[in-house]
Amino acid sequence: MDTNNSITMVANWKLNPKKQEQAEALFKDYKKTFKKYTNTQLVVLPSMVHMPLLSKKQTKGVSLGSQDSFWEDTGSHTGSISPFHLKDLGVMYALVGHSEQRSLGQTNQDMARKINALVKKGITPILCIGEKDRAGDASFITELETQIQESLEGLPKSKLSKIVIAYEPLWAIGSDAKRPATAQEVEEVCIVIRRVLSDMYALKKIPDTRILYGGSVSKKTDIETMLEHTSVSGFLVGRASLSVKKFEPLVQTAHDVAANRQG
Ligand code: PGA
Repeated sequence: MDTNNSITMVANWKLNPKKQEQAEALFKDYKKTFKKYTNTQLVVLPSMVHMPLLSKKQTKGVSLGSQDSFWEDTGSHTGSISPFHLKDLGVMYALVGHSEQRSLGQTNQDMARKINALVKKGITPILCIGEKDRAGDASFITELETQIQESLEGLPKSKLSKIVIAYEPLWAIGSDAKRPATAQEVEEVCIVIRRVLSDMYALKKIPDTRILYGGSVSKKTDIETMLEHTSVSGFLVGRASLSVKKFEPLVQTAHDVAANRQG
């Protein structure tokens, strides 16, 4: 992940767009439109089927990531995505533990294997965590703590700066979402994440691990307030990333906030 103060905008295209030409055209449009927003780092997560085509067209400002990864490089693992193959294509990021993958049965232990395999390859894992719901008590905090602790099992302290954590509460994701999380809810979770990491790694100072927020991020989300009042350093965007028209105002706001920070 970049080490400067830029804001990371991850576009999770899921199984969109339908055709290869459309993916190519959208990627081209991204590069043309977003190159002026130099304070943002864009990461596109296309379908793996479109990855080889798009990987030849990556630029400094627009990188590629996969929507998942397995932990073995090679062997009898039908249907899996090899970290080796990702590296070979020049893919720089990989999402790990998206709730749509977890719902297919993937465990925190699987996430730990994937994360360890990816960092060894120099690919930045973006670990998704998120509670199913908030029942009004603090039980969701335990759920998040367990996800972080188990998913980072075996990750050496020296690699902590090589990962990104995306907070994606399940109730805020996709077309059935209740609403996006508020800045206050996101900041509460940022504090939990940093505390768990500090405890796990016996850190003397608060870790500056990159945290992203994801879940119904759209023009209705006040990302400016989120960036100013929380310690998130970017967003993971699904539906609103599928059209440049919808995504551009978000990227522009992120760029402007980062520019103001730099004074
Ligand atoms: P959404 O998706 O922005 O459409 O809610 C986010 C995600 O699933 O990563």
